[in-house]
Amino acid sequence: MDAFVIEGGRRLDGTLRVNGSKNAALPQLAAALLTDQPLTLRDVPELADIRNMMKLLGELGCSCVRDDDGIHVRSEDESQVYARYDVVRTMRAGICVLGPILARRGRARVSMPGGCAIGDRPVDIHLRGLEALGATITLENGDIVAEAPGGRLRGATIFLGGPFGPTVLGTANVMSAATLAAGTTVIESAACEPEIADLAKLLCSMGAKISGAGTPRITIIGVDELSGAEHQIIPDRIEAGTFLCAAAITNSDLKVTNCPIDALLAAVDRLARIGVHVDVEDQSDPYRATCRVYAERSLRPVEISTQPHPGFPTDLQAQFMALLTLADGNSVITERIFPERFLHVPELSRMGAKLLRQGATVVVSGVRELVGAPVMASDLRASAGLVLAAMAAKGTTVINRVYHLDRGYERLEERLRGVGASIERLDTSEAQEITAPMITVKPIGEPAHA
Ligand code: EPU
Repeated sequence: MDAFVIEGGRRLDGTLRVNGSKNAALPQLAAALLTDQPLTLRDVPELADIRNMMKLLGELGCSCVRDDDGIHVRSEDESQVYARYDVVRTMRAGICVLGPILARRGRARVSMPGGCAIGDRPVDIHLRGLEALGATITLENGDIVAEAPGGRLRGATIFLGGPFGPTVLGTANVMSAATLAAGTTVIESAACEPEIADLAKLLCSMGAKISGAGTPRITIIGVDELSGAEHQIIPDRIEAGTFLCAAAITNSDLKVTNCPIDALLAAVDRLARIGVHVDVEDQSDPYRATCRVYAERSLRPVEISTQPHPGFPTDLQAQFMALLTLADGNSVITERIFPERFLHVPELSRMGAKLLRQGATVVVSGVRELVGAPVMASDLRASAGLVLAAMAAKGTTVINRVYHLDRGYERLEERLRGVGASIERLDTSEAQEITAPMITVKPIGEPAHA
C-alpha cells in the first residue's frame, strides 16, 4: 500500500490538463456488451476502476485491449452472462453491465454490489427500471438473476426517481437496456448528469435512437441491433473541479486545460462567492475550455447543498470543505445525495480544521491555518479533499491508503508535482518512518524538548 507525503505551503504555477472522465467511461465500456461489433473509446483514464471493468468485460466474453489509440472492446462469446462477486465488489460500477447483458443476451447474473464507504448505495431503482422493461428478477445467493421473457425486453414508460433524486448509473443501465427493447421507452426523472448525455451520444453513434439525454425525460426507440463505434470520452468535471480548488487553496495562479466548464457551473458559482476567479480564456468548445484560476487573498464563507446535476456535485463536497476550512467565517455544507459521505471530517479535524457535524450538515468554521498530520484516506473524494488540505497546511502531512485516490485520479502526485507541489509517493513502511516521530506521544510531565 502507498502513502503520500506532502509538504504544505507551496504555491502552484503552470498548467494542468484534465483527463477523460472515469464515470463517463465505465458505463460506456459496458455498452460494448450491446453489440458484437468493435467499440473504441478514446481518452479513457488509466485507473484501477477502468482496469477492473476491463477484467469484468473479459470474464463476460469480450476481448479488451488498451493501446496508444484508446481502449478497444469487442464482445466475442455471448454465452457468458455472470458478473462474479469477486470482481463486482471491487468496483460498484460493475452493476452497469446488468442492463446491457440482459438486453443483448436475454439473461444476466450479476452479483449484488455490497456496501460502500460513502453509504448503503442500493440498486433497487435499477432493478425496478429493468422490471418495467419486462425482466423477471430474483435474488439468488447474493446474485441478481434477471431474464427477459422470450429473450427480448419491451419498451415502457418508467419513473426512475428515488428518495435522493434520480440515479446516475440506474439511468445508464435502463437507457442502455432500452436501446435494444421492442418499442419505445420513456424514462421520467432521469439523471441529467453530463456522463448520461455522453453515454447517449456513444449509443446513438452505435445506431440507438435516443432523444432528451441530459434532461429529466429521455425517450428511446428500440432497435433490433447496434453496431460498433468510436467515441472520445468527455473530460472529467470532478477532476477539473478538484484542480480549481487546488489553485484556490494554495493561493496560486493556474491554467486548467481540457476543462468541461459547461458541466461545472454550480461549482464555479460557489467559487465566485468564495472569492475564487475562474476566467475562461478559450471556450470554443465549452467541454474542453482553457481556464485561468486564481483566488483573492481572503476567502469568504458560503453555503453549499449537494444536489443532482446541474446542482452542486456530491463528488466535489470534500474538496470544497477542505477549501472552506480556510475561509474567513462560518460555512454550512449539506450533503443531500449521500448523507453519510463525511469520512474526511475527522481527518480534516486532525489537521486543525474546525468542523461541527449534525447529521447531513457540517458547519465549517474557518481557521487561520491547517497543520500537517498523519491522516487516512477513506474514499476517493475524501482523499482528494485531504490532498488539497495538505498542500495548504503548515508542515508535513502523510496520507495513508492512497489506493482510494488512485481509483479516480491518474498519477495525481506527478501532475501536481509538475506545477510545483511537494508531494511524494512512498510505500506505507517508508512513510511510517516519517509518521513515527509525528505521532510520538510524550508522557505527561515530560518536558517537550527532553
Ligand atoms: N439510490 C437508491 N437506489 C438506487 C440507486 C441509487 O436509493 O437504486 C440512491 C443512492 O443511495 C444515492 C442516490 O440515489 O443516495 C444517488 O445515487 P446514484 O445512483 O446517482 O449514484 P451512482 O450512480 O451509484 C454515480 C457516481 C458517483 C457519484 C453519484 C452521484 C459512477 C461510477 N459513480 O454513482 O461517483 O457520487 O453518481 O453523482 O458514476 C465518485 O466518483 O467518487 C462517485 C462516488
